[in-house]
Amino acid sequence: MTSIDSLNTSPSRSCLAIVLAAGEGTRMKSGKPKVLHQVANRSMIGHVLSTLTDAGATSVAVVIGPDREDVAREVQKSFPEARTFVQRDRLGTAHAVLSARDALDQKVDDVIIAFGDTPLVLAETFAKLRAPLARGAGVVAMGFEAKDPTGYGRFITAGDELLAIREHKDATDAEREITLCNGGLMAIRGDLALALLDRVKNDNAKGEYYLTDIVEIAHGLGYRVAIAIVPEEEVHGVNDRAQLSAAERMIQDRLRQEAMASGVTLIAPETVFFSYDTRLGQDVVVEPHVVFGPGVVVEEGAVVHSFSHLEGARIASGAAVGPFARLRPGASIGPKAKVGNFVEIKNTDLGAGAKVSHLSYLGDARIGPDANIGAGTITCNYDGFGKYRTEIGAGAFIGSNSSLVAPITIGKGAFVGSGSVITDDIPDDSLGLGRGRQIVKEGWAIEFREKALAAKKK
Ligand code: UD1
Ligand code: MG
Repeated sequence: MTSIDSLNTSPSRSCLAIVLAAGEGTRMKSGKPKVLHQVANRSMIGHVLSTLTDAGATSVAVVIGPDREDVAREVQKSFPEARTFVQRDRLGTAHAVLSARDALDQKVDDVIIAFGDTPLVLAETFAKLRAPLARGAGVVAMGFEAKDPTGYGRFITAGDELLAIREHKDATDAEREITLCNGGLMAIRGDLALALLDRVKNDNAKGEYYLTDIVEIAHGLGYRVAIAIVPEEEVHGVNDRAQLSAAERMIQDRLRQEAMASGVTLIAPETVFFSYDTRLGQDVVVEPHVVFGPGVVVEEGAVVHSFSHLEGARIASGAAVGPFARLRPGASIGPKAKVGNFVEIKNTDLGAGAKVSHLSYLGDARIGPDANIGAGTITCNYDGFGKYRTEIGAGAFIGSNSSLVAPITIGKGAFVGSGSVITDDIPDDSLGLGRGRQIVKEGWAIEFREKALAAKKK
């Protein structure tokens, strides 16, 4: 939702982003790799790649674990030009970055290191992380004030200068008192990156090659190491399902704030759930308890009433949807059209001013402007094998409880009598009736009751 140009602080500088995504994610207890788990209906790695694009990354390398074609596919989807590199053995974060050595060999101005399981970092923050490089810093580390610093690398500072990052396991008791911690993300001057990374050793408590060691190395070689401070929530990493739900909570909160800031009324924002790509126009009103799946666009002044579930749908300006509406992919609701309660719509254009007010299913259909679809109308679009279309002309009136057996065309201004099963096309301005003819037997009820009472007395 943010504009790219406004974020790229130094548009002329080339920037390689390396995303570490070789995490096993065993604590997720999942058959699926951790970075493919979703928040706001997009994979965590998808969020990271999209943010890096917004932050001006000109090339992207993603480090994945062995046999992770599923992650590679997701990466291609989000950033088609991204290159993936496999880290065979998990020997630490510096080792992971060096798995992308071929990418690092290309001459770039800035290198950013991001984590695939840390989806909440903002594009502005990546831009802020890069900025000191343009002013001569060799390395920039992202720090935050930790409520509980346990497990994080600690910043060892002198004034504004970062001297070293001490990993929790290697820290002394005094160093463990430090609450300014490493968020994990870094920016490195492109021409220094390999020289610094190649000097990292694994002589520490974990026996790993720590990316964080490049701080001390850079400092020792006389390069300035800068700090970018961010709020703790931005560097929230996901290791288990509880942390995944916390990430979801934070991202939903952001999306709600963004919606309201852009002129959308959310009566009870905490009950409305968005997707990363939900687009809402000015003066849209969203009532409590609405879920937006991926791919929804709602234009100016439309209303979404309570308990509606929308995905892959477009709602034009001034239209009203719900309560209890379900819009599925390909639903397009025209200007000032009305979709009422317990209506499901899929792959259907509902024309301007058309109404489908109650208890209906419309699938694979085109409904002309100002048509009225009566309660309980069903488009019978599927015969167990194929899907078939229903065309309903402008101003047509479909009587309640009708089944329209597709493929079928109902002309402009035509009527369908209530309770019909319509199997043949109806021309413009004609009436279609497809039901048993009614008969009336006068006095039948009196006769029936007398017989029934007599039988009961016996
Ligand atoms: C890391 C930082 C620590 C920081 C913390 C913030 C190092 C050495 N430490 O610690 O200072 O406070 O993040 O959350 O960098 N990964 C690989 N291959 C590896 C190892 C890691 O791809 O061989 C990936 C992981 O999947 C993860 C990221 O790198 O996405 C960080 O690794 P992790 O093991 O979580 O590092 P921390 O111990 O959390
Ligand atoms: Mg971690």
